[in-house]
Amino acid sequence: AMIDKGNYRHFMAKEIHEQPEVIGHTLSRYLDLAARKAKVPDGMAVDFSGLTRLVMSACGTAYYAGLVGKYWFEKYARLPVEIDIASEFRYRELPVNPGEMALFISQSGETADTLASLRYCKAAGLTIGAVVNVPESTIAREADLVFPTIAGPEIGVASTKAFTCQLSVLASLAILAGRQRGVLTADQEAELVGALSEVPGLALKALALEARIEKLAPGLSRASDVLYLGRSTSYPLALEGALKLKELSYIHAEGYAAGELKHGPIALIDENLPVIVIAPHDAIYEKTVSNMQEVAARGGRILLITDEKGAEASGLADRDRILMPALSEIVAPIIYSIPIQLIAYHVAVFMGTDVDQPRNLAKSVTVE
Ligand code: G6P
Repeated sequence: AMIDKGNYRHFMAKEIHEQPEVIGHTLSRYLDLAARKAKVPDGMAVDFSGLTRLVMSACGTAYYAGLVGKYWFEKYARLPVEIDIASEFRYRELPVNPGEMALFISQSGETADTLASLRYCKAAGLTIGAVVNVPESTIAREADLVFPTIAGPEIGVASTKAFTCQLSVLASLAILAGRQRGVLTADQEAELVGALSEVPGLALKALALEARIEKLAPGLSRASDVLYLGRSTSYPLALEGALKLKELSYIHAEGYAAGELKHGPIALIDENLPVIVIAPHDAIYEKTVSNMQEVAARGGRILLITDEKGAEASGLADRDRILMPALSEIVAPIIYSIPIQLIAYHVAVFMGTDVDQPRNLAKSVTVE
């Protein structure tokens, strides 16, 4: 069928707004809500129990999904993860051993470097898993285990709904691995599954922030550089936020782990540098507050994306924050992706760039 923009100005806007629905479709394959357990799609079997390591690789936005996944597999399943961008992975001669599983993440399933990384691990005899959105793609065909995202066709060059669906699959697999490896109790699994089941509704709430975010676009569009900061799973989101902004608006942007601020980017802070801080009120929130104080003390302009508790503890004025719902830890990275996408989208629309087809970029990079 022909895919059109419906009532939206751009495919990207349509795809951002499809997220509650397509995340719901995706999660329905990976969660058994009646039993409150994680599962794999019908007819599949996967065993994480005896693995010594999970090796992951991907490119671009899919790589950032994998980076969030690393935090989840290590925390919820005590499964060590090695992850690298595919263009490095394929050439660095990583020693891999039987007893490890490899997992590749790709919207298109055709990215040349990701495919080459898959073949490297396959030649070494590893079991190959792939989180892919296009089921008939080369990566899906060459994998032993295909974990589909049910995002539907993604037309906008900058990945949005595929990313949050990749996160949904990785979160579910990390829970499954946690049970199989004897790390999560049945109660803990039930709680995590219950939290994930609320993602579609919470995504809808996050989309309701669009008008507020649209108003921030003119101010951000005047910057020549933007710094994104986050810790833990918000660190990959900072990288993703910076990637989205630079791809769509051509404003130079960098994502940094908040704790690395002192080791470099702090030298850039002045009143002309917007600093977007991604920080749900979690166990390490206070650490991020210290980093914000370091930015504020040097005249930096902070835009904090946080929840009610975080906003209170930050001491920042209303205009300097985007207020998210309070979220459980496993859900936060999925839902915080939405304001990140909307910021990049609205800055680009305000600046009049080609949102769906940014200059020099391709949807699928099938050559090296
Ligand atoms: C290109 C696209 C990105 C995408 C990346 C990886 O750079 O513009 O949106 O994240 O390729 O693509 P894949 O299809 O492997 O996820």
